[in-house]
Amino acid sequence: MITEQSIQHLLTVVPIDEVVGDYVSLRKSGSRYKAPCPFHNEKTPSFVVSPTLGIYKCFGCQKGGNAIQFLMDIDNLSFAESARILANRYGITLEETRSIEDQDNFKEKQLHRESIQAAVDFAADYFQQQLHDTEEGASIALPYFRERGFTLETIKKWQLGYNPEGWESFTTAALDKGYKSDFLLGAGLIKERDNGSYYDLFRNRVIFPIHSVIGKVIGFGGRKMGNADNAPKYVNSPETELYKKSEVLFGVFQAKNAIKKLDKVLLCEGYTDVITMHQNGVENAVASSGTALTPGQIKLVKRFTQNVTVIYDGDAAGIKASLRGIDLLLEEDLNVRVVLLPDGEDPDSYCQQLGGEGFSRFVDQSEKTFIVFKAELLLQETDGDPLRKSDAVKEILKSVALIKDGLKRSTLLQQLAGVCQMEEVILTSELAKLLRQEKIKESQQLLNNVSQSTKEVPAEIHIQEPLTDKEQEMGFFRLMLLHGNKPALESNSLFHFLKQKIQEDDFLEFHEPFAQLLIPYFLNTEDIPDAGFFLNHENEEIARWAAGELTASHELSEAFAANLIDVSTEETQYLEVAINLLLHFKRKKIDKLINSKLLELKNPDCDMEELLLYVEFLNEQKREIAAVLGMAVSNMWIN
Ligand code: CTP
Ligand code: MN
Repeated sequence: MITEQSIQHLLTVVPIDEVVGDYVSLRKSGSRYKAPCPFHNEKTPSFVVSPTLGIYKCFGCQKGGNAIQFLMDIDNLSFAESARILANRYGITLEETRSIEDQDNFKEKQLHRESIQAAVDFAADYFQQQLHDTEEGASIALPYFRERGFTLETIKKWQLGYNPEGWESFTTAALDKGYKSDFLLGAGLIKERDNGSYYDLFRNRVIFPIHSVIGKVIGFGGRKMGNADNAPKYVNSPETELYKKSEVLFGVFQAKNAIKKLDKVLLCEGYTDVITMHQNGVENAVASSGTALTPGQIKLVKRFTQNVTVIYDGDAAGIKASLRGIDLLLEEDLNVRVVLLPDGEDPDSYCQQLGGEGFSRFVDQSEKTFIVFKAELLLQETDGDPLRKSDAVKEILKSVALIKDGLKRSTLLQQLAGVCQMEEVILTSELAKLLRQEKIKESQQLLNNVSQSTKEVPAEIHIQEPLTDKEQEMGFFRLMLLHGNKPALESNSLFHFLKQKIQEDDFLEFHEPFAQLLIPYFLNTEDIPDAGFFLNHENEEIARWAAGELTASHELSEAFAANLIDVSTEETQYLEVAINLLLHFKRKKIDKLINSKLLELKNPDCDMEELLLYVEFLNEQKREIAAVLGMAVSNMWIN
């Protein structure tokens, strides 16, 4: 087990913003970073990273923790795996204790995973060897690949393979080599018969290995070579401990550098599409392997680029079915474009026909903004019927509403006005309606976050108000006592200024017993307080307080000195100090008010919309105050 000490050391050294920044594009916001949460779908960012505290936190889905936790969450790693990765990356040596039990436990898990990986590695080698080094491979499988236009170099680069006819060719080889059936089963390479014997998953098929983003083979697709039988065209590895289908894109390992360089990914459907494109120099292509796009795959793409071009083959019906998957891309704030290939072509066939350069040119010239594409597709089907047209337009605007960037939205509306042959103002007002509904939904979400986070903001990220209640309350009286007679803005004295502010603001209340004691002398009077009056006050406590403040006004409480004022300048900057104090006070009160509004919201008869707006307003106020004060705000969920 890794020692607590070295974990602590690791956590102090590792910059959390860098770790998270590899997966999420972070925007600086004060001393923190913000981003849309990588763990759930959202439009307004409630995911916060604080380098000072070394933590991340999403106030939407409540995921949060330190750098180790982040890797565990995002890459499905164990604690030790994730600590080791970080240690490696930042050159830290982890100390480990020799608790046999822990180590066995960890080792067992690690061993299991490693054993499955070993089985998969063996299979990848075996399939390649069957392709290249056997007569059957050379006479049946290699020609199949060559016929499809794959060069030997391509075949080797993609580690393509072959598993021969028969039921147990791979199974026998693997068992003979000593690979345990449990691990072969776990790797999804073999299946078990009722009688307890085993057989191959891929039989008489050419093999396409599927690589993880770091280049390990994690699964396979096997294609039948003829069309004679009615077996499925492809057989694929099942979901395993290594191969999580919803988080993998075929070709991403081979494509990632090109994707980064070109800042664009071409998303298609098939193994052969990707391989042919790469062979022809179009190296930023990946495939979803026939399934609908998943959020996990989108997350993967987002690590490398914001620009996604989806290449469709197939008919309109198929395309319509996949429109929803594309809405997912929009929600993730990716720039989505679409290319439709001529009838009967797929990227594989068309790229072979046009050559790499021709194909790239074709993509560049014919790609359309997804929304425009969708609009054309839906409008085509309305046959000019006005009712159906208005339904179609609504449908299209729903997609537009998913886009966060206002500028992008309005550019799109201009384009759409042309495509739909409608006035832009009409589209704009329809969209505004949708966005308003969205906003209410979102605010509702925000509120859920708020009640969650006020309930359970973990102690370590609850940044404290720099001043205690008592310090705040007493601060007003101190300022009045020391600087009450000095001029202040439109009021003729700081005393009158503060008194007026305190009286006109329902936020300001005093709860400290000692503050209560002072109220009659400061607030219920028109006269600027006189130092002598307090120094000689019959109440000893008051006299002592005044003497303390007057004689040692530079020995301010530590909190004041540290957080509010430079002691030496209070003499001249009393007004700033007073305003700061008012703002701090107000901010705290707003928090309380927000909480009480949240309680009201639980009442089923409440006017939800009004309450939401009010809370939004309060948050805005709080935000402004925080900005003015330049302080870290206690509830980090606010923007
Ligand atoms: N697919 C699958 N199982 C099938 C059919 C398809 O898993 N029975 C997946 C494969 O990942 C395939 C992708 O869907 O690559 C696209 O299917 P399709 O267009 O039918 O195949 P192609 O990739 O074009 O394959 P080929 O060119 O060999 O026909
Ligand atoms: Mn094809």
